[in-house]
Amino acid sequence: MPVFPQQFAVPYRFDVHFTRDVFAGDNDTLAQVMQPRSGGRPARALVYIDAGTVKAHPKLVQRIHAWFTAYESRGVQLAASPEVVTGGEALKGELAILDKVGREAFDNGICRHSYVIIIGGGAVLDAVGFAASLVHRGIRQIRLPTTVLGQCDAGLGVKNGVNRFGSKNFYGTFTPPFAIINDARFLESLDDRSWRAGIAEAVKVATIKDAVFLDRLTADAAQLRARDLPTMEYLVQRCALIHLEHITTAGDPFEQGSSRPLDYGHWSAHRMEVLSQHRLLHGEAVAIGVAIDTLYAVELGRITRAEADQVLGILATVGFRLWDEVLELRDSCGKRAVLAGLAQFREHLGGELTLAMPLGLGKRSDIYEFDEALFERALAQLRRFRPQLTQPSTKS
Ligand SMILES: NC(=O)c1ccc[n+]([C@@H]2O[C@H](COP(=O)([O-])OP(=O)(O)OC[C@H]3O[C@@H](n4cnc5c(N)ncnc54)[C@H](O)[C@@H]3O)[C@@H](O)[C@H]2O)c1
Ligand SMILES: [Zn+2]
Repeated sequence: MPVFPQQFAVPYRFDVHFTRDVFAGDNDTLAQVMQPRSGGRPARALVYIDAGTVKAHPKLVQRIHAWFTAYESRGVQLAASPEVVTGGEALKGELAILDKVGREAFDNGICRHSYVIIIGGGAVLDAVGFAASLVHRGIRQIRLPTTVLGQCDAGLGVKNGVNRFGSKNFYGTFTPPFAIINDARFLESLDDRSWRAGIAEAVKVATIKDAVFLDRLTADAAQLRARDLPTMEYLVQRCALIHLEHITTAGDPFEQGSSRPLDYGHWSAHRMEVLSQHRLLHGEAVAIGVAIDTLYAVELGRITRAEADQVLGILATVGFRLWDEVLELRDSCGKRAVLAGLAQFREHLGGELTLAMPLGLGKRSDIYEFDEALFERALAQLRRFRPQLTQPSTKS
């Protein structure tokens, strides 16, 4: 029988904007992004906002209304009043958000040329982004991440998802955004835990991709702990650009292969989040996961202990706890419960275990086997780790 091979490529393009105070009357970033429809018809948008963001910015809904009124002449329009949705992992734990977004899109005549503007932390971006990717098989998403982790990692990528069956991001799609707007002013209202959480992703990516950035993080760690906004803006931008460079140039944006360097330290982090029943934030679990894999890399002879101490030192200086009781949990066979994360990671990759590992700081090569005895030694080192904390410098 004949075979007719088919092939096509779809180019994607999106802009990542960095700004401050996106809904100020004189800020037209969003108007630059939303393109009016043919025939001069306005570009219409549904807006979803994280309840945590609204709590910290009580006038936000009002300011969004005022901004759209002010920019009406530029062809932008709210299709409905902004909706406030539960923030954090709770939203990813249920499927109700799918019908909520779907119903509102249906009721308001949202078409594939309309927009969904998502304002919030990584969890809201993931859950509402997943819903938006299903409506008409995908409506344009403009993401406004309001956490450090959202701005430097979660909001930039092409992935979304919700949790199901005790497994992180079990349902989800690969859907590139239409645009991303990172507004640094949102970061000022974060509590210390969420301010810190995103720093783990910067340390993650620097450890395997950029030794210069890692040195900069070492120098900046105490300033970051002291909540210096310009220092954080540099971190967010550099971390974002490394993630974007990987997604756009590494040749596998939709992760069809097995190599996932942006998930360094994540095989255990995802498991720890679930084992802690989400008491641990994603970034807090990533900090521990990165520490574990970095010490594991020492056991493999891929980096020195001094190099690992640099990585752990940044994490400790910005205030992460590098041990959690979930690491002590055992399953019914006496095996460490966190190790189940390896099997889930392997499944997610399509059967073959591939873990990113540093090979010298700032460089990586993947490994395909995992040695539980070396893991135990790495854990023992982590338990004993006592950081030497640096102090903030006096210059700003
Ligand atoms: N899609 C991806 O590629 C990707 C990558 C990394 C992480 N993630 C996901 O991102 C999620 C974590 O995101 P996160 O760290 O942003 O946490 P989060 O979304 O859970 O938000 C943390 C808390 O901060 C609140 N909040 C948000 N913005 C605020 C603001 N400006 N001021 C005050 N409070 C605010 C939220 O309501 C929430 O309570 C996880 O579900 C993780 O799996 C996705
Ligand atoms: Zn992550």
